[in-house]
Amino acid sequence: MRALTRRSMLRGGAVALPFAALAACSDDEQPKPSFVEPDSQRVAGAEAARNPGPAREFQLNAIASEVDLGGLVVPTWSYGGTIPGAPIRVAKGEQVRATLVNDLPEATSIHWHGVQLRCNADGVPDVTQAPIAAGESFTYQFTAPDAGTYWFHPHSGTQLDRGLYAPLIVEDPDETVDWDLEWTVVLDDWMDGVTGTPDDVLDQLESGMGLMDHGGMDMGLMTDGHMLMGASSDILGDDAGDVYYPHYLVNGKLPADPEVFEADPGARVRLRFVNAGGDTAFRVALSGHRFTVTHTDGFPCVPVEADAIVIGMGERYDAVVTLGEGVFALVAEAEGKQMRGRALVRTGTGEAPTVDIAPAELTGHVLAYDELAPAEGVALEAREPDRTIDLELTGSMDGYDWAFNGKPHDLDNPYAIEEGERVRLRFINDGRMWHPMHLHGHTFALADTGLRKDTAIVLPDQTLEVDFDAVNPGRWMVHCHNLYHGEAGMMAVIGYRD
Ligand code: C2O
Ligand code: CU
Repeated sequence: MRALTRRSMLRGGAVALPFAALAACSDDEQPKPSFVEPDSQRVAGAEAARNPGPAREFQLNAIASEVDLGGLVVPTWSYGGTIPGAPIRVAKGEQVRATLVNDLPEATSIHWHGVQLRCNADGVPDVTQAPIAAGESFTYQFTAPDAGTYWFHPHSGTQLDRGLYAPLIVEDPDETVDWDLEWTVVLDDWMDGVTGTPDDVLDQLESGMGLMDHGGMDMGLMTDGHMLMGASSDILGDDAGDVYYPHYLVNGKLPADPEVFEADPGARVRLRFVNAGGDTAFRVALSGHRFTVTHTDGFPCVPVEADAIVIGMGERYDAVVTLGEGVFALVAEAEGKQMRGRALVRTGTGEAPTVDIAPAELTGHVLAYDELAPAEGVALEAREPDRTIDLELTGSMDGYDWAFNGKPHDLDNPYAIEEGERVRLRFINDGRMWHPMHLHGHTFALADTGLRKDTAIVLPDQTLEVDFDAVNPGRWMVHCHNLYHGEAGMMAVIGYRD
């Protein structure tokens, strides 16, 4: 029999612990370190030090409704009935004041992915706030201290793999702008309301039904219900994903009825890519063009040219292109899954490329992390780590027992750090599967190159080291942004000591 997971307990109707009780109860005899509380003076003090600017008001209605994906109408959950939800835009230093009205049939939350924000606005149920019950509302208020491309989504069960996501763009009034237009391009893998719900998918993955061992033999791509086997990628390894999705969306649209971006030939466009997928890395390319990559996870990098970019779940890239004349395919290939989503870019007359076009750029020069360096001004100063935390990425497809250090969902026992430290996280992956690792509340630097990111791909047989400065007191999730790995247990908390 498989163990009762935290999620199935909650869904099974067991009464969830009251939020305040979580930290208190323990069977251990050892006194546990105590950690900064999200609602503490320390958190309020860190927020005050950001010199909060004017508050911009937003309302988000999380609703269940039918949504048109471009010729396919599906029942799903979204912010306000559109996918992605309407973007939130503020200027650097301003406050987001967003009221979430929960009209879903279950509790929800919003996490503001990548923002170094006050801990009590981070949106993690039972860690930074109480869940927002069905029918309730909650107002998130926080300063957005850094410009860049961010996004938001629930941190509740599998809700992210429905249509609940939207961009959060923080503009820098002082940025030297050298583009004419900007377009946000949100990528997603879609099954909700088509082959089942994300909860059905997690159930099947956790029960492991039908999973066969193909013992390293190349049997090609196979599906079994929601499960996918043999998703092989030359970049991510021979297990590029677990979940079969019937559709891939760019800005909420199917390839047959895509979003069409229009511009004049010669226009310089800043593209802001966000991967909102649950289990899919996307390889993006624009036919007939090369990208100049300018930002990783919101932060500027030394510009680098590439034909294609592989974007893990939760990652963002900004790239600038100078548009030629004609009609071009902006393609997002589901890495290893042999399917694609796309949008079109139209600057002149001409036939639209065919629905299934695979532009040559997809197999051209694909950007790698080690080509990228942080822009001057955003590199962390050189410093030896004061503390190193080892996080071994454990688990496998067989048991679907993803965890850190063999301890699934161990949220009540934070890894302790002290404010002011330089902290190194070592993500140790001895398994066969890649994982996009995300840290809340901070933007780390890859130890090798200094590249600033908040979500980073850890390949099979790789140890990735990342450093951050502990300057934002609170309790912060670190987890795999493969939604199903996270829900299976690959999540933990890093806590600032009180
Ligand atoms: Cu987008 Cu906890 O993550
Ligand atoms: Cu993972």
